[in-house]
Formats: sequence, structure tokens, C-alpha cells
Amino acid sequence: MKSLPAILLTLTTTLPHQATAHYIFSKLILNNEPSQDWQYIRQTTRSQNYMPTKWTSTYDNLTPSDSDFRCNLGSFSYAAKTEVAEVVAGDTIAMKLFYDAEIAHPGPGQVYMSKSPTDNVQEYQGDGEWFKIWERTICNDTGDLTKDAWCTYGMSEFEFQIPEATPAGEYLVRAEHVGLHGAQSNEAEFFYSCAQIKVTGSSKGSGTPSLTYQIPGIYNDSMTLFNGLNLWMDDVEQVKTDILDTPIGDDVWTGGSSGTSVASSTATAAAVTHAQVRTSAAGASSSSGAGSSSAPTGDSLAKHYAQCGGLNWMGPTACESPSVCVEWNEYYSQCVVRD
Ligand SMILES: *[C@@H]1O[C@H](CO)[C@@H](O)[C@H](O)[C@H]1NC(C)=O
Ligand SMILES: *[C@@H]1O[C@H](CO)[C@@H](O)[C@H](O)[C@H]1NC(C)=O
Repeated sequence: MKSLPAILLTLTTTLPHQATAHYIFSKLILNNEPSQDWQYIRQTTRSQNYMPTKWTSTYDNLTPSDSDFRCNLGSFSYAAKTEVAEVVAGDTIAMKLFYDAEIAHPGPGQVYMSKSPTDNVQEYQGDGEWFKIWERTICNDTGDLTKDAWCTYGMSEFEFQIPEATPAGEYLVRAEHVGLHGAQSNEAEFFYSCAQIKVTGSSKGSGTPSLTYQIPGIYNDSMTLFNGLNLWMDDVEQVKTDILDTPIGDDVWTGGSSGTSVASSTATAAAVTHAQVRTSAAGASSSSGAGSSSAPTGDSLAKHYAQCGGLNWMGPTACESPSVCVEWNEYYSQCVVRD
């Protein structure tokens, strides 16, 4: 399946607005005007810059535990060549995906900022403190957790406000989407890049973010949300519990003294069943994951992400191309794209 992303890229070049499996933020939108690609957002040195960062089955040997998890692989080498956008504190801006792609994976989206200590973001590695200003998790509790239950599903940009209380200065702004469709086998997929902005103009710019993080360090694969959760088996309350166990469940900083809660706290009641399901889900990561062969023909093929096997399963056991059937455990096999 190595060639698939290249095919998708070719398709999206000629067919804008196609949903794609992989994506990266490349444009900043200021006053409703999209910038050029990489005008304000640091480019990366990856040959396929839209590929995700993962803990296992990595691309370019990059993991969320590496320092290049801040702004993507090699992006600091573009820092001086990337322009700095002036933004008035309180303004709403957006970060938009390359090729107008749409997010086609289930999972949360968030935006973090980090201030350059020298007030020159073109020299800043992002090794200081980061704070979160925007977060979208589950918007529809009865929706499909593998798809549109997630607020960001189908989005092609993240629109967010720079808090009015943001102190003047130069910042990295990091937009990130996490695809959780492979979290059952430690293959959560992180898509992210950083814009360079100069915040000006607010007399109220004296706020202090309440919660800050280091990148890397903010996430690790002991967190069930990224390693162990199974969107096809877990219920919405379990997923919310997993979210709350990570910084993704933390309040965003809006400039005030209290943040905005992003996940409901109704998760406590689910904790017992959560632990039980976790035990069985943990077995999934030890499955072979090799996948049976694809490209079958005929009319009873399971669709992408659908079940294709498991104890007592009576439905189709072959998948529509390019998906292949992967066994997560004896109860559940699923059509996924192995790339
Ligand atoms: C939430 O998901 C359910 C089930 O798919 C759907 O019927 C409903 O329209 C969705 N609600 C919203 C607000 O999208
Ligand atoms: C993962 O992060 C959590 C929360 O910050 C922390 O308690 C835990 O020690 C970390 N685990 C590893 C293996 O780093």
C-alpha cells in the first residue's frame, strides 16, 4: 500500500475538495483570505509531508516522542524563510489543509501556542512552554465514533480565536489533528504543523495561561486514547474517559481565569466497564496486524472500516480495495488501509 498516498496526492491535485486520508496544515487564513502554502507555516523536509506521525509503523522514523513532533520533521530549517503574520489579539484566524483536503479520520483537533522567549519566532525551536487555545472532540454523542461523531470530521480548516489576553510577542501556533482509527494497535496518527505569528494590539494582553505543556512530552503511548482505545468497540463514555486522561481533555485557555471545558465529566460512571473493555482491547495490540490480502472481486465486500471477521461473524470477510481485513482479536476483524 506504499503507493497509495502518492495516488491520493495526484488525485487531490486535480480534484480539489476531495476527502483524503492524509493531510497537513499549510495555509494561514487572515481576514478570511487564505495565504500561500507555507507562507506563514513552516514547511517540512519530509518527502511526503502529509504523512502522519505515529509511535509504531513510523514514517521517516519520526514519533510523537521526538523533538520534531513540535512542528514536524525538519521544519526548523524553514523557520527563517517562513514569514511572520501579524495578528491582533482577539482576532479569529484559521489554519487550512494542503490541497483543500478534508479531515477523513475520526479524532480530536486542537491548537497550541508557544511564545518565543527572544520575540523572534524565526529563531524559535518551540522548546518552551505550550498552551492550548482551541479544542474540538466529540460533537455528537449518538453519532458514529468512527466518523462524524467527531467535530472535526470533514473539516478542511481549524478556525480559532487568539485570546484577547495573549501577551504581545511572537509565537508558534501549532494546529494538530489526531486520527484514532488505529489506536487499538498503537497507531494513532498525528497531523500537525506550525504557523509563525506576531501578536499585537491588545491593552488586555497580560494574561497567563493556566496550563502549559512541553512538546514532546505532552502525549505518550501509555495514554489509552492513543494506544488501546478501539473506536469500533468502545462506547462514547469510554472514549470521553480516555480523552480526559490526556491533555486533550484539559480546558483551553481563553484568556480568562477559567477555561472552557471541552469534555463532559459524566465519564466517571463508565469507569468500571471502561477497565473491563480495556483488558480485551489490550489484546488487540498483540494481534499479527499483517492483514489478509485484498483486491477480491465480487459483490459482498465489507466497506472501509467495517467489520470483516470475528467469532460468530456471518458477514463479508473480504474488504473493498484498498482496505484489507485485519484481525484485532478473536472477536473482531476490520477493514483498514495498511500504508
Ligand atoms: C447525531 O448522530 C445521529 C446518529 O447518526 C444522527 O441521527 C443525528 O442527526 C446526529 N446529530 C447531529 C446534530 O448531527
Ligand atoms: C505518560 O503521561 C502521563 C501523564 O502525563 C504520565 O503520568 C506518565 O508517567 C507518562 N508515561 C510515560 C511512560 O511516559
